[in-house]
Amino acid sequence: MESVLAPSILSADLTKLGEDVKACEGAGVNWLHVDVMDGIFVPQISFGMPLIKCLRKITDSVLDVHIMITDPIRYIKDFAESGADYITFHVEAAKYPAEVAKAIRAEGKKCGIAINPKTPAEALIPYLDLADMVLVMSVEPGFGGQKFIDGSLEKIKEARALLDSKGLKDVPVEVDGGINFENIRAAKDAGADILVAGSAVFKGDAAMNAAKLGGQLK
Ligand code: DX5
Ligand code: ZN
Repeated sequence: MESVLAPSILSADLTKLGEDVKACEGAGVNWLHVDVMDGIFVPQISFGMPLIKCLRKITDSVLDVHIMITDPIRYIKDFAESGADYITFHVEAAKYPAEVAKAIRAEGKKCGIAINPKTPAEALIPYLDLADMVLVMSVEPGFGGQKFIDGSLEKIKEARALLDSKGLKDVPVEVDGGINFENIRAAKDAGADILVAGSAVFKGDAAMNAAKLGGQLK
């Protein structure tokens, strides 16, 4: 697929989220990354279904919901009903990842499977047939504004190669964490199809930043 930028609204000013979303869309954005944090799987608590429902009302962009929550199976139905398009859970957070993936697909949603920086790409192998997207975390999940971890480009390549080796050429690889003006192109060239950026978009003029970052993916 063509590479896309997915601004992470974790770094947005929520009091003017609607405005910023529209501005980003005016700059060519058609994916939005929504980071749900439970204070257990990751230290921070962010936001959940009520915000996703509000976003769903104002946008047709793909809502890419990244759930950093323990025991994700409990909430798949709620996230699906709130209007998510992709629901991406962490393989580390689920007792039975295959069941979570099946539950997401049973709701008619796309299933993303995420791995933390310390989790090897091989951990994805048992679940690749159930994945509509694979998410390679390039920072420890939990906070925006961290530095891209060296070695993540290699991990993107490995994830891409694993998918290709199973004949899953159409399943995209997403990268999330520390993506900025300096490294976005290298992440794309390593094989990332969906490039999440939070602080690089929302620090300053979101529309201008999104246009510039998106421009590097052409
Ligand atoms: C981190 C989140 C990321 C975060 C990215 O746990 O999953 O999506 O918002 O923020 P930046 O782009 O600032 O690293
Ligand atoms: Zn994320």
